[in-house]
Parts: sequence; structure tokens; C-alpha cells
Amino acid sequence: MNASFSRRPLIKPATWIAPAERGVFETAGTTAHRLASGPDGWVERLGDDVMISHKNDVALAELISGLEKWAQESGWFPSRVFTRFLPLKNDERISPILRTGDMTLPLTTVVTENGVRYGLDFAAGYSHGLFLDQRINRTQLRLLKPKRMLNTFAYTCSFTVVAGLVGAETLSVDLSKKSLDRGRQNLALNGISEAKHRFIADDAQELMPRLERKGERFDAIILDPPTFSRNDKGRLWQVEQHFEDLVNAALELAMPKCAILLSTNCTKLDTVVLERRSRQCAKIKRRAVDYLRLAPQVDFPSGHGSSTLWMMVR
Ligand SMILES: C[S@@+](CC[C@H](N)C(=O)[O-])C[C@H]1O[C@@H](n2cnc3c(N)ncnc32)[C@H](O)[C@@H]1O
Repeated sequence: MNASFSRRPLIKPATWIAPAERGVFETAGTTAHRLASGPDGWVERLGDDVMISHKNDVALAELISGLEKWAQESGWFPSRVFTRFLPLKNDERISPILRTGDMTLPLTTVVTENGVRYGLDFAAGYSHGLFLDQRINRTQLRLLKPKRMLNTFAYTCSFTVVAGLVGAETLSVDLSKKSLDRGRQNLALNGISEAKHRFIADDAQELMPRLERKGERFDAIILDPPTFSRNDKGRLWQVEQHFEDLVNAALELAMPKCAILLSTNCTKLDTVVLERRSRQCAKIKRRAVDYLRLAPQVDFPSGHGSSTLWMMVR
């Protein structure tokens, strides 16, 4: 056997969207979507730019050559290519690196999703500002037309923007004031005044019971927490351990007919587990619930993106 061949690592190639699919996204007013998803990385189109996220150098090389081929086939060439290493540990996360393109251009940009505008910042840290796998849930929220929405773990408030566009009053909660400030900018980008929108930089776990005691109630609640975090007082959040606490707190705040989004990146909590564990909470709280599972997004092959499920309170 050829020695160099035997040493070549075996990698499963990434799945690329069909070149024609980009036109379908453009027609829908969407300039932010995945181009490719592989076992060790993925490629996102973000307006005029591309970001390649990779777990190792082999995946990076494969995604770069895949992008060159896909660009030739589609006739669409990114203005800049950023790359981002995906470390195993959160504390090893670093900002993306500009790999090709004009270094003098601003590191911020604006993308659209179904005509809605979101600001991205490639220099803000590990994440640019928009989780593309939540597109389907943002679309669903828009269809639900909530009147009062609670957005916990709100990050840059993409769900708040969508709720604001259909006239909802909202409350967005996140530990990071900087992220909430970006949420305010996202509202402004879409011409939405802040009059009906509140932003609280706090621990969602601690705030939700206080909201309940104040009599606040909502007809849509977004629960999309990180797998792990720690607040400024050292309090630990671990989704596997605290999932029931979060769902119970949300059920206390839920009006009849409230739609609660359950979403997580934790691989141990797939939609079957999310349903089983949240159903038990609803039973104890004596709330009747149904579940809504949405069709997968065309740019996220099975097994990619968060596990998400809507719990619909009757
Ligand atoms: C996965 S992101 C949420 C993404 C968001 N739902 C979206 O679609 O854009 C997690 C966010 O939770 C925030 N966070 C982490 N722990 C928190 C806590 N205990 N209370 C409130 N926010 C928290 C982080 O600052 C981060 O912005």
C-alpha cells in the first residue's frame, strides 16, 4: 500500500447546498444561510462575506477547497472569507480571523433574513451575532403574532426583532448588557421604536420567579439557553441539570395559549428528551400542552443545528 495514502485521514465530506438554492434564499430576502455542513465544520454565507468554522486543519482545508468549487459552480464569490476555530472548551474560544479580502473594510456588516435586518460583528468575539439555525423558529414566531413575549437568553435579540415587527410588547433578558445593546441596534435597524421593548441584563433563572411574583404573564416565551454558563456571582447554569427549573419557571409565566420555544445545543437533549422532560413539568404544574415540531431547514442537514421544539400551552 502507498505509505502517504495510508496516512491520509478519512473524513466525511461536507454537504453543500445546491448552487441554485442561493437564488431561492435571495428571492426570500435572505442573505444569511449555511452553504455547507460537515462533521468537523461548516460554512456560512453572511451577506457579501463567508465564515468557515472548523474543528481542525483537515476540515478547514476541505471546506476552503469546497468553497472554491461551489463558488465556481454558483457564480457567487464572497468579498471576504473569515475562518473560526471551534475549540472543545468554551474558555479557548477566539474571534474569527480574516483569511482573504480587504483588511480595511469594517468588521461589521448587515445581513437580511426574510427581509429582516440584523447587524453582525466579526470582531465581537467568538459569535458574529446571528444563529442561522433559528431562522425557522423566528419565522414561526412571526406567524404566531404574540402580544407579550419574554425572550430569555436573548443574546442579540433576534426573536425580539421579529416579535416587534408583528406588534408585540417584549422583555429581553441576558447576562450580557453588550449583547442587549446590540439587540437595541437590531430593533433600530428595522425601524422599530424601543417604546414597547424592555431589556434587562440579569440572570434569567433568578429573574423569572421575580417576574412571576410581579404578575407578569406572556403569550410567547423563548427558552434557548447555552449548555453551560456562570453568572457574575458564580452561579452555575447547566442545561442538562437546570432544564426542568427553566420550564417550570416559564409555565408559571405562561398565559393560556402561550407558545414556549424549547431549544438547546446540548447533544444529550434531543427533541424526544426535550418533550419527555417538559411534559413531566407540565403534568406537575397541571398545564395541558401540545407539541409542535417544525420541518428541518434546507441548509441544515439532519443532525446539524440545535434541537428545537415548541411547547404549546392550551
Ligand atoms: C445560545 S445564546 C442565545 C441565542 C439567542 N436565543 C438567539 O437566537 O440569538 C446564549 C445567551 O445566553 C446568555 N446567558 C448565559 N447564561 C445566562 C443566564 N444565566 N441568564 C441570562 N442569560 C444568560 C449569554 O450571554 C448568551 O447571550
